[in-house]
Amino acid sequence: MVAANDTMLTNPDGPAADPPFDHASAALAQRFPRNFTWGVATSAYQIEGAAHEDGRGDSIWDEFCRRPGAIRDASSGERACDHYHRVGEDIGLIANLGANAYRFSIAWPRVQPLGAGAWNEKGFDFYERLVDGLLARGVAPFLTFYHWDLPQALQERGGWANRDTVARFVEYAAEVARRLGDRAASIATHNEPWVVAILGHETGIFAPGLTSQKVAMQVSHNLLLSHGLALQALRAQRCTAPLGIVLNQAPIHAATDSPEDVARARLDDGLTIRWYMDALLHGRYPDDVLEFLGEDAPQIATGDMDAIRQPLDFLGINYYTRNLSGIGAPLAPIGDGREVTAMGWEVYPGGLTELLLRLKADYRLPPVYITENGAAYRDELVGGRVADVERIRYLHRHIAAMADALERGVDVRGYFVWSLLDNFEWADGYSKRFGIVFVDYATQRRTLKDSALWYRAFCSRATAARAGAASTDLERRHGP
Ligand code: FCB
Repeated sequence: MVAANDTMLTNPDGPAADPPFDHASAALAQRFPRNFTWGVATSAYQIEGAAHEDGRGDSIWDEFCRRPGAIRDASSGERACDHYHRVGEDIGLIANLGANAYRFSIAWPRVQPLGAGAWNEKGFDFYERLVDGLLARGVAPFLTFYHWDLPQALQERGGWANRDTVARFVEYAAEVARRLGDRAASIATHNEPWVVAILGHETGIFAPGLTSQKVAMQVSHNLLLSHGLALQALRAQRCTAPLGIVLNQAPIHAATDSPEDVARARLDDGLTIRWYMDALLHGRYPDDVLEFLGEDAPQIATGDMDAIRQPLDFLGINYYTRNLSGIGAPLAPIGDGREVTAMGWEVYPGGLTELLLRLKADYRLPPVYITENGAAYRDELVGGRVADVERIRYLHRHIAAMADALERGVDVRGYFVWSLLDNFEWADGYSKRFGIVFVDYATQRRTLKDSALWYRAFCSRATAARAGAASTDLERRHGP
């Protein structure tokens, strides 16, 4: 980052002065319409804790964490960031960042402990407090129904592989929307169905830890079906919130120019991007992928594909890195001498522009939100400060890549940093810190990292009235 000390803010919890906010960042902020959404994101299991309080039921992640060896540091989301008890403080943090939106998920087992039958009023009270608290501070609630924490009771009946779970999900979605839909600025059905299906049911590194391609593909179909049927149900009950889904997407590049690697990359593109996008927007699965799957292709009932293809008010994209693929390489980012994060994920901002332009070329896209982007680094709290220069650089470069796509005609409406807080990073436990706010897990003390101070200065620039400028073309297109 170039150092031109033109903004100084005070961090009440940290050092006397903020790190300098440079001219390049100020110029970047000007590339966005003033009414652009700037947010931070979290998910329920990763931050809430209070896993067995006030009537919450077990989720598949509670169960998975008990499995020896499943979680790198043998931890769980039992306490996590204790957000359930600190929700007021955390809303204050979000508001003080100047973010105008907060993306979070509802823990299904908190509001319906068994995934069927009785609702848990205390669970709903918590989300009522969260939503009302955000609105009182001028922060738009972006809600996700399912960020991976299926009630364990449903898993015992087959989980997402059982078509009955689809009906259970629709019932749950309709109830949450009935209670909170009037105040939600946005509702997403699922977060990253590819991860749920593949990492949960094929590679087994995530809950529920199964290892069958056939099951995984049936799960992916059932997730998509539950999305479509939930959208139908919500529209039938006149839910006013914009409705959509969040996908993890990344350009897939062939590891080498060999025909085998190029073919494998095309197939992986089918399995990760086209499988979801074609189904959601065109109502069919890609032929090459169906052919590859053969016997492992899902069972599709009459009408399913039409049900999946519902109008989307928005599409959420989570972007972290590109993927390299080939016959010698598994579908995973690489780190041979390239710049990587603490996850080993390659820093590849250009992939975000490439992805957005490609999606725009291939599909009639609804408005797009980058619902997650961020990075884990080996942060250290020294003298009340976390000097996470690399994260600032990562965020800056990805926001710039998003601006490139916006200026080239992709209708991007918002951006969410993953994550507000350091949190429970699934199979990596607490060993990976993605937050722009540092969490000391022993004391639960939160400290704004330098990246949070940078993002605060950035959001304030991006949303501030601009001298001389009435409204840009982009602002006119985005409405008031
Ligand atoms: C995404 C997840 C999110 C977080 C980030 C790092 O795949 O949606 O919960 O774990 O990765």
